[in-house]
Amino acid sequence: MKIKEAAYLQGAVEKKQYPVNERPEIAFVGRSNVGKSSLLNKLLNRKRLAHTSSTPGKTRLINFYIVNDAFYLVDLPGYGFAKVPPQVKKQWQVMTEEYLTGRLPLRGIVMLVDLRHPPSKDDLAMLEWLRFYGYPTLIVATKADKISRSRQQQHLQVVTKVLALREDEPLITFSTMSGEGKEAVWRWIKSVYS
Ligand code: GTP
Ligand code: MG
Repeated sequence: MKIKEAAYLQGAVEKKQYPVNERPEIAFVGRSNVGKSSLLNKLLNRKRLAHTSSTPGKTRLINFYIVNDAFYLVDLPGYGFAKVPPQVKKQWQVMTEEYLTGRLPLRGIVMLVDLRHPPSKDDLAMLEWLRFYGYPTLIVATKADKISRSRQQQHLQVVTKVLALREDEPLITFSTMSGEGKEAVWRWIKSVYS
């Protein structure tokens, strides 16, 4: 994908703050600290457009990025982070649900999991929820640079099994360090938005 223009448009906590000049959207979900914002930066060839952090819970808003004036990439707050007060967790959950249930331009979801670890209960719950709403979903197993080549296949099998992935739920490896998987993510995004 040729990125002619990429910019942060706005952050939202509720529906009335979503962009109104609607364009197709692709949203990024995954547990806190899995690497959603890093993936976004990598896709857009920008170092710090989306704020990343080694401390989980960095992304607290639904953040809309506009690309080539044609579509939006949407960075959602991560789930499954224990160290936030229950009321904040609840607020993030309400925010995410409101977005995922009622967003007409939403064409597909990129769901990130950490290739190093078996997907969590939260990951499975999220995926089942996405299946229920019928969104096309790409599973991205990220931080692949932290697993040796020879062990990657084995880890991918664990991900496939724990999430009980279907034929129509592609799984790819990704690394922000090496850039591996970047073009595959773009290909999938193009296939769902155009
Ligand atoms: P929240 O905003 O808290 O939901 O987190 P996030 O999912 O946006 O994660 P973020 O992109 O901030 O990344 C979390 C940490 O993981 C950062 O320290 C990143 O540098 C690191 N990280 C992300 N992707 C990769 C990767 O592919 N390889 C390696 N080695 N580190 C990564
Ligand atoms: Mg983030």
